[in-house]
Amino acid sequence: MTIKITVPRRTLLVLCGPAGSGKSTFAAQRFIPTSIVSSDYCRAMICDDETNQRVNRDTFGLFDYIIQKRMYLGRFTVADSTALHAAARRKLRALSRRSGYYGCLLIFNTPLEVCLARDKLRQRMVGEQVIAYHFDLLQRALLDAPSEGWEQAHVLGADDMDAEIEVME
Ligand code: CTP
Ligand code: MG
Repeated sequence: MTIKITVPRRTLLVLCGPAGSGKSTFAAQRFIPTSIVSSDYCRAMICDDETNQRVNRDTFGLFDYIIQKRMYLGRFTVADSTALHAAARRKLRALSRRSGYYGCLLIFNTPLEVCLARDKLRQRMVGEQVIAYHFDLLQRALLDAPSEGWEQAHVLGADDMDAEIEVME
């Protein structure tokens, strides 16, 4: 069964999931590139290196800033980061509320083996240890999401990569 999700235009769609779970691919297949705010791209913009973890503070400063500017202008916005820490989701939920935006959380519950296999095929490998850590955080996120105050929270399994998202005009 294809999952069908309908959200208003003024929605912050927050992607959440381990590295290699398919978040960026899923977003790119559905939304115009400029509507997707990617933490990896923000990182690259300030230091030319998508993997440099030493610039997290500035990376997420820029990430939040762009998201807020888009919401100020009433644009549908996708937040593409792992959002695996409760604090990261809390911040995005707070930003969306502050702009009078609807908060929709999409959790990518892709099997560990799939994420690991994809990681091995990638140019910049995240590594098994990091992905295993992401999976611990994912279990927590699956438990916590229902009580985090999202207007909608959906869990997408490996078979749900055909989910349809309709943005209402
Ligand atoms: N991929 C795939 N089939 C899918 C989804 C993704 O083969 N259905 C591949 C992509 O081509 C990419 C890798 O798996 O090489 C990771 O997908 P990506 O969408 O980049 O995963 P993210 O969740 O965005 O990972 P990250 O958090 O590291 O950005
Ligand atoms: Mg990505």
